[in-house]
Amino acid sequence: MQVLVTGGTGFVGRAVLAALAETPHRARILVRHPDSPRARDLAGRWRVEIAAGDVLDPASLRAAMSGCEAVIHLVGIISEVGRNTFENAHTRATQNVVEAARTTGVTRLVHMSALGTRPGAVSRYHQTKWAAEEAVRASGLAWTIFRPSLIYGPGDQFTTLFARLARWSPVLPVMGPGRARLQPVAVEAVARAFVRALTEPAAVGRTFDLCGPERLTFNEVLDTILAVTGRRRVKLHLPLPLARLVARGLELIFPRLLGRAAPFNRDQLLMLQEDNVGDPAPARALFDLPVESFRTGLGRYLRRR
Ligand SMILES: NC(=O)c1ccc[n+]([C@@H]2O[C@H](COP(=O)([O-])OP(=O)(O)OC[C@H]3O[C@@H](n4cnc5c(N)ncnc54)[C@H](OP(=O)(O)O)[C@@H]3O)[C@@H](O)[C@H]2O)c1
Repeated sequence: MQVLVTGGTGFVGRAVLAALAETPHRARILVRHPDSPRARDLAGRWRVEIAAGDVLDPASLRAAMSGCEAVIHLVGIISEVGRNTFENAHTRATQNVVEAARTTGVTRLVHMSALGTRPGAVSRYHQTKWAAEEAVRASGLAWTIFRPSLIYGPGDQFTTLFARLARWSPVLPVMGPGRARLQPVAVEAVARAFVRALTEPAAVGRTFDLCGPERLTFNEVLDTILAVTGRRRVKLHLPLPLARLVARGLELIFPRLLGRAAPFNRDQLLMLQEDNVGDPAPARALFDLPVESFRTGLGRYLRRR
Protein backbone atom coordinates (compact mmCIF):
# COMPACT_ATOMS: atom_id res chain seq x y z
CA MET A 1 0.00 0.00 0.00
CA GLN A 2 1.31 3.51 -0.81
CA VAL A 3 0.89 5.62 2.34
CA LEU A 4 1.29 9.36 2.78
CA VAL A 5 2.48 10.32 6.26
CA THR A 6 2.01 13.92 7.37
CA GLY A 7 4.21 14.98 10.29
CA GLY A 8 6.73 12.30 9.31
CA THR A 9 9.69 14.40 10.43
CA GLY A 10 8.30 14.71 13.98
CA PHE A 11 8.87 12.62 17.09
CA VAL A 12 5.94 10.25 16.46
CA GLY A 13 6.37 10.44 12.68
CA ARG A 14 9.91 9.05 12.81
CA ALA A 15 8.70 6.06 14.85
CA VAL A 16 5.84 5.50 12.40
CA LEU A 17 8.29 5.50 9.49
CA ALA A 18 10.47 2.95 11.31
CA ALA A 19 7.40 0.75 11.85
CA LEU A 20 6.29 1.16 8.22
CA ALA A 21 9.75 0.11 7.06
CA GLU A 22 9.12 -3.32 8.55
CA THR A 23 6.05 -3.82 6.35
CA PRO A 24 5.61 -4.10 2.57
CA HIS A 25 3.94 -0.64 2.57
CA ARG A 26 5.65 2.20 0.75
CA ALA A 27 5.85 5.50 2.62
CA ARG A 28 5.86 9.04 1.32
CA ILE A 29 6.17 11.99 3.70
CA LEU A 30 4.85 15.50 3.35
CA VAL A 31 7.61 17.88 4.42
CA ARG A 32 7.80 21.63 4.64
CA HIS A 33 11.56 21.70 4.18
CA PRO A 34 12.56 18.93 1.74
CA ASP A 35 16.24 19.91 1.82
CA SER A 36 16.54 19.85 5.61
CA PRO A 37 19.06 17.39 7.08
CA ARG A 38 16.21 15.59 8.86
CA ALA A 39 14.20 15.04 5.67
CA ARG A 40 17.30 13.81 3.83
CA ASP A 41 18.21 11.52 6.69
CA LEU A 42 14.72 9.98 6.75
CA ALA A 43 14.73 9.53 2.99
CA GLY A 44 18.04 7.70 3.16
CA ARG A 45 17.39 5.66 6.28
CA TRP A 46 13.85 4.43 5.60
CA ARG A 47 13.78 4.81 1.81
CA VAL A 48 10.78 7.09 2.06
CA GLU A 49 9.70 9.31 -0.78
CA ILE A 50 9.70 13.04 -0.05
CA ALA A 51 6.81 15.27 -1.11
CA ALA A 52 7.33 18.98 -0.51
CA GLY A 53 4.28 20.63 1.00
CA ASP A 54 2.35 22.03 3.89
CA VAL A 55 -0.96 20.87 5.36
CA LEU A 56 -2.16 24.45 5.01
CA ASP A 57 -1.54 24.33 1.26
CA PRO A 58 -4.30 22.18 -0.31
CA ALA A 59 -2.59 21.96 -3.72
CA SER A 60 0.57 20.51 -2.18
CA LEU A 61 -1.53 17.98 -0.26
CA ARG A 62 -3.29 16.83 -3.43
CA ALA A 63 0.03 16.43 -5.21
CA ALA A 64 1.50 14.50 -2.26
CA MET A 65 -1.49 12.14 -2.12
CA SER A 66 -1.46 11.34 -5.80
CA GLY A 67 -1.24 7.54 -6.19
CA CYS A 68 -1.69 6.89 -2.44
CA GLU A 69 -4.26 4.55 -0.95
CA ALA A 70 -3.93 5.69 2.66
CA VAL A 71 -2.93 8.67 4.76
CA ILE A 72 -1.52 8.66 8.26
CA HIS A 73 -2.19 12.20 9.44
CA LEU A 74 0.06 13.12 12.37
CA VAL A 75 0.55 16.87 12.05
CA GLY A 76 -0.20 18.73 15.24
CA ILE A 77 1.34 21.41 17.43
CA ILE A 78 1.60 22.01 21.17
CA SER A 79 2.58 25.66 20.84
CA GLU A 80 1.50 28.20 18.24
CA VAL A 81 3.88 30.06 15.95
CA GLY A 82 3.10 32.23 12.91
CA ARG A 83 0.24 30.81 10.87
CA ASN A 84 0.57 27.47 12.65
CA THR A 85 -2.20 28.34 15.11
CA PHE A 86 -4.17 25.54 16.80
CA GLU A 87 -7.12 26.28 14.52
CA ASN A 88 -4.94 26.02 11.40
CA ALA A 89 -2.58 23.18 12.36
CA HIS A 90 -5.35 20.98 13.78
CA THR A 91 -8.77 21.84 12.34
CA ARG A 92 -8.01 23.51 9.01
CA ALA A 93 -5.17 21.08 8.30
CA THR A 94 -7.39 18.06 8.89
CA GLN A 95 -10.17 19.53 6.74
CA ASN A 96 -7.56 20.01 4.01
CA VAL A 97 -6.34 16.43 4.39
CA VAL A 98 -9.90 15.06 4.17
CA GLU A 99 -10.67 17.20 1.12
CA ALA A 100 -7.45 16.20 -0.66
CA ALA A 101 -8.07 12.53 0.14
CA ARG A 102 -11.54 12.68 -1.37
CA THR A 103 -10.26 14.46 -4.48
CA THR A 104 -7.37 12.09 -5.10
CA GLY A 105 -9.19 8.83 -4.35
CA VAL A 106 -7.44 7.99 -1.06
CA THR A 107 -9.83 5.77 0.88
CA ARG A 108 -8.12 5.08 4.22
CA LEU A 109 -7.32 7.74 6.86
CA VAL A 110 -5.62 7.03 10.18
CA HIS A 111 -5.80 10.18 12.24
CA MET A 112 -3.82 11.41 15.25
CA SER A 113 -5.90 13.08 17.92
CA ALA A 114 -5.19 13.29 21.66
CA LEU A 115 -6.66 12.05 24.91
CA GLY A 116 -8.81 14.73 26.54
CA THR A 117 -10.27 15.80 23.19
CA ARG A 118 -13.99 16.37 23.72
CA PRO A 119 -16.72 18.88 22.99
CA GLY A 120 -16.40 21.85 25.36
CA ALA A 121 -12.78 21.07 26.26
CA VAL A 122 -11.04 23.85 28.21
CA SER A 123 -7.84 24.10 26.15
CA ARG A 124 -7.73 25.34 22.57
CA TYR A 125 -5.45 22.39 21.78
CA HIS A 126 -8.25 19.96 22.70
CA GLN A 127 -11.02 22.13 21.21
CA THR A 128 -9.33 22.22 17.83
CA LYS A 129 -8.42 18.52 17.99
CA TRP A 130 -12.14 17.85 18.58
CA ALA A 131 -13.12 19.90 15.52
CA ALA A 132 -10.50 17.96 13.54
CA GLU A 133 -12.01 14.66 14.70
CA GLU A 134 -15.43 15.88 13.59
CA ALA A 135 -14.03 16.51 10.10
CA VAL A 136 -12.61 12.97 10.04
CA ARG A 137 -15.88 11.40 11.20
CA ALA A 138 -17.83 13.30 8.54
CA SER A 139 -15.31 12.52 5.80
CA GLY A 140 -16.96 9.46 4.26
CA LEU A 141 -13.50 7.83 4.25
CA ALA A 142 -12.60 4.61 6.06
CA TRP A 143 -11.20 6.36 9.14
CA THR A 144 -9.60 5.42 12.45
CA ILE A 145 -8.82 7.93 15.22
CA PHE A 146 -6.18 7.47 17.90
CA ARG A 147 -6.10 9.46 21.13
CA PRO A 148 -2.82 8.98 22.98
CA SER A 149 -1.94 10.17 26.47
CA LEU A 150 1.62 11.44 26.94
CA ILE A 151 3.86 9.68 24.38
CA TYR A 152 7.42 8.99 25.47
CA GLY A 153 10.50 7.76 23.65
CA PRO A 154 13.87 8.83 22.26
CA GLY A 155 13.77 12.48 21.17
CA ASP A 156 10.47 13.35 22.84
CA GLN A 157 9.80 16.83 24.21
CA PHE A 158 9.05 15.72 27.74
CA THR A 159 11.02 12.87 29.33
CA THR A 160 14.17 13.70 27.35
CA LEU A 161 13.83 17.36 28.27
CA PHE A 162 13.36 16.73 32.00
CA ALA A 163 16.17 14.15 32.02
CA ARG A 164 18.45 16.73 30.37
CA LEU A 165 17.34 19.45 32.80
CA ALA A 166 18.04 17.16 35.76
CA ARG A 167 21.65 16.82 34.57
CA TRP A 168 22.54 20.41 35.51
CA SER A 169 19.62 21.90 37.44
CA PRO A 170 19.20 21.24 41.17
CA VAL A 171 15.42 21.69 40.81
CA LEU A 172 12.74 20.50 38.41
CA PRO A 173 9.91 22.98 37.81
CA VAL A 174 6.34 21.72 38.23
CA MET A 175 3.51 23.99 37.15
CA GLY A 176 0.95 23.78 39.94
CA PRO A 177 0.55 20.86 42.35
CA GLY A 178 1.44 18.17 39.77
CA ARG A 179 -1.33 15.87 40.91
CA ALA A 180 -3.14 15.40 37.58
CA ARG A 181 -2.67 11.88 36.25
CA LEU A 182 -1.12 10.81 32.96
CA GLN A 183 -0.90 7.39 31.37
CA PRO A 184 2.40 7.51 29.42
CA VAL A 185 2.56 5.31 26.34
CA ALA A 186 5.71 4.28 24.45
CA VAL A 187 6.14 5.77 20.98
CA GLU A 188 6.85 2.31 19.54
CA ALA A 189 3.41 1.11 20.69
CA VAL A 190 1.78 4.20 19.17
CA ALA A 191 3.60 3.64 15.86
CA ARG A 192 2.60 -0.01 15.81
CA ALA A 193 -1.06 0.88 16.34
CA PHE A 194 -1.03 3.36 13.44
CA VAL A 195 0.64 0.95 11.05
CA ARG A 196 -1.50 -2.06 11.99
CA ALA A 197 -4.67 0.02 11.72
CA LEU A 198 -3.96 0.54 7.99
CA THR A 199 -4.94 -3.05 7.18
CA GLU A 200 -7.20 -3.90 10.12
CA PRO A 201 -10.84 -3.90 8.97
CA ALA A 202 -12.09 -3.96 12.58
CA ALA A 203 -10.39 -0.58 13.17
CA VAL A 204 -12.49 1.26 10.60
CA GLY A 205 -14.90 3.83 12.02
CA ARG A 206 -13.49 3.50 15.54
CA THR A 207 -11.68 5.76 18.02
CA PHE A 208 -9.04 4.26 20.31
CA ASP A 209 -7.31 5.57 23.41
CA LEU A 210 -3.57 4.85 23.40
CA CYS A 211 -2.23 4.65 26.94
CA GLY A 212 0.28 2.74 28.95
CA PRO A 213 -0.52 0.40 31.82
CA GLU A 214 -0.01 2.89 34.69
CA ARG A 215 -1.84 6.02 35.79
CA LEU A 216 0.84 8.31 37.24
CA THR A 217 0.61 11.83 38.59
CA PHE A 218 2.88 14.40 37.00
CA ASN A 219 4.97 14.24 40.18
CA GLU A 220 5.29 10.45 39.84
CA VAL A 221 6.29 10.79 36.20
CA LEU A 222 9.16 13.09 37.24
CA ASP A 223 10.10 10.76 40.10
CA THR A 224 10.33 7.87 37.63
CA ILE A 225 12.58 9.88 35.29
CA LEU A 226 14.82 10.73 38.24
CA ALA A 227 14.89 7.11 39.43
CA VAL A 228 15.78 5.82 35.96
CA THR A 229 18.54 8.40 35.49
CA GLY A 230 19.82 7.85 39.04
CA ARG A 231 19.40 11.44 40.22
CA ARG A 232 17.86 13.16 43.21
CA ARG A 233 16.36 16.56 42.54
CA VAL A 234 13.91 18.84 44.30
CA LYS A 235 10.60 19.47 42.56
CA LEU A 236 9.84 23.18 42.60
CA HIS A 237 6.06 23.73 42.48
CA LEU A 238 5.12 27.05 40.91
CA PRO A 239 1.75 28.37 42.15
CA LEU A 240 -0.73 28.49 39.27
CA PRO A 241 -0.99 32.31 39.01
CA LEU A 242 2.81 32.53 38.76
CA ALA A 243 2.92 29.65 36.25
CA ARG A 244 0.34 31.49 34.15
CA LEU A 245 2.48 34.61 34.21
CA VAL A 246 5.58 32.66 33.15
CA ALA A 247 3.64 30.98 30.34
CA ARG A 248 2.32 34.32 29.11
CA GLY A 249 5.81 35.79 29.12
CA LEU A 250 7.18 32.86 27.10
CA GLU A 251 4.29 33.18 24.62
CA LEU A 252 5.20 36.83 24.08
CA ILE A 253 8.94 36.31 23.78
CA PHE A 254 9.27 33.16 21.71
CA PRO A 255 6.81 33.37 18.77
CA ARG A 256 6.86 37.17 18.48
CA LEU A 257 10.50 38.01 19.05
CA LEU A 258 12.31 34.79 18.21
CA GLY A 259 9.89 33.32 15.63
CA ARG A 260 9.86 30.02 17.52
CA ALA A 261 7.20 28.12 19.44
CA ALA A 262 7.20 28.85 23.18
CA PRO A 263 8.61 26.01 25.30
CA PHE A 264 5.57 26.32 27.55
CA ASN A 265 2.24 28.11 27.20
CA ARG A 266 -1.05 28.79 29.00
CA ASP A 267 -2.89 26.16 26.98
CA GLN A 268 -0.46 23.49 28.21
CA LEU A 269 -0.95 24.78 31.74
CA LEU A 270 -4.70 24.21 31.42
CA MET A 271 -4.13 20.67 30.12
CA LEU A 272 -1.65 19.86 32.88
CA GLN A 273 -4.31 20.54 35.50
CA GLU A 274 -6.64 17.80 34.22
CA ASP A 275 -6.29 14.01 34.21
CA ASN A 276 -5.17 12.55 30.89
CA VAL A 277 -6.07 8.89 31.28
CA GLY A 278 -8.07 6.40 29.26
CA ASP A 279 -8.77 2.76 28.49
CA PRO A 280 -5.80 0.97 26.90
CA ALA A 281 -7.57 -2.38 26.52
CA PRO A 282 -9.36 -2.10 23.12
CA ALA A 283 -6.28 -0.90 21.19
CA ARG A 284 -4.00 -3.29 23.02
CA ALA A 285 -6.19 -6.24 22.07
CA LEU A 286 -6.86 -5.33 18.44
CA PHE A 287 -3.33 -4.23 17.51
CA ASP A 288 -1.42 -6.60 19.82
CA LEU A 289 0.39 -3.75 21.57
CA PRO A 290 3.17 -4.44 24.07
CA VAL A 291 2.47 -3.86 27.77
CA GLU A 292 5.49 -2.30 29.40
CA SER A 293 5.85 -0.28 32.59
CA PHE A 294 6.86 3.37 32.20
CA ARG A 295 10.02 2.69 34.15
CA THR A 296 11.08 -0.18 31.87
CA GLY A 297 10.24 1.84 28.77
CA LEU A 298 12.27 4.83 29.95
CA GLY A 299 15.19 2.57 30.81
CA ARG A 300 15.51 1.62 27.13
CA TYR A 301 16.73 5.10 26.20
CA LEU A 302 17.42 7.16 29.33
CA ARG A 303 20.67 6.04 30.85
CA ARG A 304 21.61 6.06 34.49
CA ARG A 305 24.04 8.76 35.53
N1 LIG B 1 3.95 13.83 21.82
C1 LIG B 1 2.92 13.55 22.59
O1 LIG B 1 3.04 13.27 23.79
C2 LIG B 1 1.54 13.53 21.98
C3 LIG B 1 0.44 13.12 22.76
C4 LIG B 1 -0.82 13.08 22.18
C5 LIG B 1 -1.00 13.46 20.86
N2 LIG B 1 0.08 13.89 20.13
C6 LIG B 1 -0.14 14.29 18.73
O2 LIG B 1 0.75 13.53 17.92
C7 LIG B 1 1.10 14.28 16.75
C8 LIG B 1 2.60 14.26 16.54
O3 LIG B 1 3.19 14.81 17.70
P1 LIG B 1 4.79 14.90 17.83
O4 LIG B 1 5.08 14.85 19.28
O5 LIG B 1 5.43 13.94 16.89
O6 LIG B 1 5.03 16.40 17.33
P2 LIG B 1 6.32 17.02 16.61
O7 LIG B 1 7.54 16.25 16.94
O8 LIG B 1 6.29 18.47 16.94
O9 LIG B 1 6.02 16.82 15.06
C9 LIG B 1 5.09 17.61 14.40
C10 LIG B 1 5.19 17.33 12.92
O10 LIG B 1 4.20 18.10 12.23
C11 LIG B 1 4.86 18.78 11.16
N3 LIG B 1 4.13 20.01 10.86
C12 LIG B 1 3.79 21.01 11.71
N4 LIG B 1 3.13 21.97 11.05
C13 LIG B 1 3.05 21.57 9.76
C14 LIG B 1 2.49 22.12 8.60
N5 LIG B 1 1.85 23.30 8.63
N6 LIG B 1 2.58 21.42 7.44
C15 LIG B 1 3.22 20.24 7.38
N7 LIG B 1 3.80 19.66 8.45
C16 LIG B 1 3.70 20.32 9.63
C17 LIG B 1 6.27 19.02 11.65
O11 LIG B 1 7.10 19.26 10.54
P3 LIG B 1 8.49 20.10 10.61
O12 LIG B 1 9.56 19.03 10.72
O13 LIG B 1 8.53 20.83 9.34
O14 LIG B 1 8.40 20.99 11.81
C18 LIG B 1 6.54 17.68 12.31
O15 LIG B 1 6.84 16.70 11.35
C19 LIG B 1 0.49 15.66 16.94
O16 LIG B 1 -0.75 15.71 16.25
C20 LIG B 1 0.23 15.74 18.44
O17 LIG B 1 -0.83 16.60 18.76
C21 LIG B 1 1.34 13.93 20.65
